Amino acid sequence: MPEATFHFPPDFKWGTATAAHQVEGSNENNDWWLWEQQDGRIKEGHRSQPSCNWWEQAEEDFDRAAALGQNAHRLSVEWSRIEPREGYFDDAALERYRTMLQALRERGIEPMVTLHHFTTPLWLVEIGGWENRRVVHFFNRYVARVVEALGEFCDLWCTINEPNVMTALAYVRGIFPPGKQSLRLAMQVARNLLRAHAAAYRRIHVLQPEARVGFAHHEHIFDPANPRSPLDCWAAGMQHRSFNCVFTDSVVRGWWMLPLGFGPAWRLRKTLDWIGLNYYTRDVVAFDAQAAGELFARKFHQPGAELLDGGYGEFYPQGIARSLKRLSRFGLPIYITENGLPDADDDQRPRALLTHLYQVWKVIQECVPVMGYYHWTLVDNFEWAEGWTMRFGLISLSLETQERTPRPSAYLYRDICQANAITPSMIDTYAPEARELLLPG
Ligand code: FCB
Repeated sequence: MPEATFHFPPDFKWGTATAAHQVEGSNENNDWWLWEQQDGRIKEGHRSQPSCNWWEQAEEDFDRAAALGQNAHRLSVEWSRIEPREGYFDDAALERYRTMLQALRERGIEPMVTLHHFTTPLWLVEIGGWENRRVVHFFNRYVARVVEALGEFCDLWCTINEPNVMTALAYVRGIFPPGKQSLRLAMQVARNLLRAHAAAYRRIHVLQPEARVGFAHHEHIFDPANPRSPLDCWAAGMQHRSFNCVFTDSVVRGWWMLPLGFGPAWRLRKTLDWIGLNYYTRDVVAFDAQAAGELFARKFHQPGAELLDGGYGEFYPQGIARSLKRLSRFGLPIYITENGLPDADDDQRPRALLTHLYQVWKVIQECVPVMGYYHWTLVDNFEWAEGWTMRFGLISLSLETQERTPRPSAYLYRDICQANAITPSMIDTYAPEARELLLPG
């Protein structure tokens, strides 16, 4: 019997994902730039500048993506460039994004544009940023300008990246700007993010009826340390509901599902044409009576588990299938808007690509409508509070020289994109140690 080849659907999208502040360089008018200037905020005092210098030369990396067989790319536009002062829109910045999207199209790469990926203009931060309900109006106005300017080249829009991560890290853990720790403010910001998403969804459809609009949701797996312990199960369930379910379920049900507030939210309903999954890793959770501030959870890695670089988490490919299955209950098309790992020496990434994509293939066989996969990321870029210590790129970057060097997994991913499949020879060439996982017997 010939060995299995795992084919993906004929129109499957294969790409990489990036975000403006992480790749562009010279972004000096947003909250992250300010944050980077403060002592102790970013590991080893790193700064985003000059990053991958996309503001000047994104096209060179688009050439690389095309040569690597990719037919899709998710990128974000930087609000603080487009609207550097309240109500003033910079046509030159919009024009630069038009040339970038056109350049992608010319290379046969379909763009997905994210409208907010963690960074907020300083003028808005000064009046309360996402805590201020007027952000909904400001975001809506900005989105309209972007869609009018870029709609010729894009109809696939991602309103907001990971509203759950942004709320948790900026307002609960305080390690993203504005560095606050207040559950009350977190809930206020969560509501404004959801309102802004819904308003943007409607505005985009008025301007571009054929648009496909969604948001990118980060799903993290939380498993009980001892599945037979009701307390561990309760603690893991609390983590799951408060981190994974608040945003997705509020939108799908049209009902606020916030830890400190339930109630009707009709305007959120029917504001998703698709949903994005960003999946990376999992935690194991034990009940801890001392950890009231952490919802009585102590999180750790499964003893004996293979770990990712820099303490990023556990190598756990099954989590992508579990996350896809949960999201599939919403009955929407799904894009995997991010998945990847920090792995500077590329000793895990080839196996990670094969095993995660195998899990994706399996759920597609069970009729979960996965439309595409965007690997995080094309070229090493500025990893927020981790600075440059974590390298997620298929292609490595030297910050000193701007030189790019593809890692072996760039070629594995190219082969997968070109074949629209995983084949036994790819496994043998790039990660023979994955053979027994994918081709047992
Ligand atoms: C996600 C972010 C993305 C990148 C990856 C590694 O949570 O959306 O910008 O930092 O993690």
